[in-house]
Amino acid sequence: MGLNFPPEKRGDLERGIRAAAKEFGYEDTELFIQKLIEAPLTKNQIEMLAEYLTVGETYFFREKKLFDILETHILPELIHKRYNNGRYLRIWSAGCSSGEEPYSVAMLLHQLIPDIKNWDISILATDINQRALKKTSNAIYKEWSFRDTPEWIKNRYFTKRKDDRYELLKYIKKMVTVSYHNLAQDVYPSRLNNATAVDIIFCRNVLMYFVLGHSKRVIQNLHRSLIEGGWLIVSPCEASHVLFDRFKTMNYPGVILYQKVMEMNQKDENVSDSLHCDMHLFQPLSANVSGQEVVQDVELEKSSVAKPVDETGQNGEEEIRVKNPDIATMALLARVHANLGRLTEAYEWCEKAITADKLNHTLYYLKASILQEQGLMEQAIAALKQALYLKQNFVIVHYMLGNLLQRSGKCEESKKYFNNALMLLDTMNEEEIVPESEGIVAGQLKKIIQSLTSLSGLLSLLGLSSLLSLLS
Ligand SMILES: C[S@@+](CC[C@H](N)C(=O)[O-])C[C@H]1O[C@@H](n2cnc3c(N)ncnc32)[C@H](O)[C@@H]1O
Repeated sequence: MGLNFPPEKRGDLERGIRAAAKEFGYEDTELFIQKLIEAPLTKNQIEMLAEYLTVGETYFFREKKLFDILETHILPELIHKRYNNGRYLRIWSAGCSSGEEPYSVAMLLHQLIPDIKNWDISILATDINQRALKKTSNAIYKEWSFRDTPEWIKNRYFTKRKDDRYELLKYIKKMVTVSYHNLAQDVYPSRLNNATAVDIIFCRNVLMYFVLGHSKRVIQNLHRSLIEGGWLIVSPCEASHVLFDRFKTMNYPGVILYQKVMEMNQKDENVSDSLHCDMHLFQPLSANVSGQEVVQDVELEKSSVAKPVDETGQNGEEEIRVKNPDIATMALLARVHANLGRLTEAYEWCEKAITADKLNHTLYYLKASILQEQGLMEQAIAALKQALYLKQNFVIVHYMLGNLLQRSGKCEESKKYFNNALMLLDTMNEEEIVPESEGIVAGQLKKIIQSLTSLSGLLSLLGLSSLLSLLS
């Protein structure tokens, strides 16, 4: 879990473990501890322990100064930039606890974007504590959650229930997708849960409970999950020049934010990071050339890349150039650019690769992934169908098609692709890695599909199919 319990917190640890022991069926806490440290914990055990060992303190619009800066600077700029450019936003509340943080962002966006219905807005809310996630999904809150929230927010976005608790209005609730995610362990960035090319990551009051080494790793991963120009928001007490040295520090009155920018001395580092990172969204292509050879090609050329293109002195972009790249190198460059959040360049490289090798199914899948990142769902669906045309048993593509069609409200068609994926997964070993899938195993993908299809079934039973596109 990455959690740190210094001596002054040992009492909390002891209380937590004692309580957890009961749930695990142990009367004797010592014995329970022995069992825990005997073997690596399973995901299930981590989830159960997390309910006892994490601190879930949170409330709506926590830290007013930050929300003021978001409202007056960060979000208006981002919205303006995207208005004629896909109308999409991607936000992630990592360590969302009971949901007050992601829903605050949803309410703020609702106020700032008049035509929000025409936007594709993804607000991902993740946590390691299942009980907190359940609260997030329920979106019913006590007065205490509004301890520093203007009264009008409560009146406008909540209805008061008979039990004196407040229920969030459905249209705000639907803006947020709730999902389990362990920052210290799970693979990310990941397209499977929308934690890639993120515009703003909130990871507030989470890292302060982590062991230093874990914090560093988590920050690296969050850096990778951001789009270029994206923001990482931590709490004021977590700010650190050392830990966030890969980010540009932006100071606003009473608030420090971290922005992912491509600084000259960071560029090579980022490129090689993307090339070598094994838990990355766009993984090396399974083409004829081995990943190793491709990496060497690109690195050789990196040393002969013309230095800054920027003659005007403004935000110049260094180009990654390769002499006579072969198809695998072009595809790799598309992935590298995508990983850096440079989606236009990624798309261009992908198109070049496809022009050179029109029958390569993985290239169409890559193209679809980039289009999806750009928020171009229809075009992404078309590219996925091209990939399937070339390789009918491409499991991950069946899954992606099911997913995108469901999100576009085409539930019947979506079901067909989900079923195909399930049938293909049945032919695989549960622990077998699904090809081109960022390392996800067959059993896991089956579970994801089953949960997506059971939600779809439930809603259509209730005559609420149209909700599904909004929900997903
Ligand atoms: C204090 S709350 C912060 C809530 C919210 N971000 C805020 O600032 O108001 C910390 C949250 O981090 C979560 N957390 C702790 N370790 C985590 C991990 N390894 N992965 C994901 N979430 C974690 C806890 O479960 C808890 O809900």
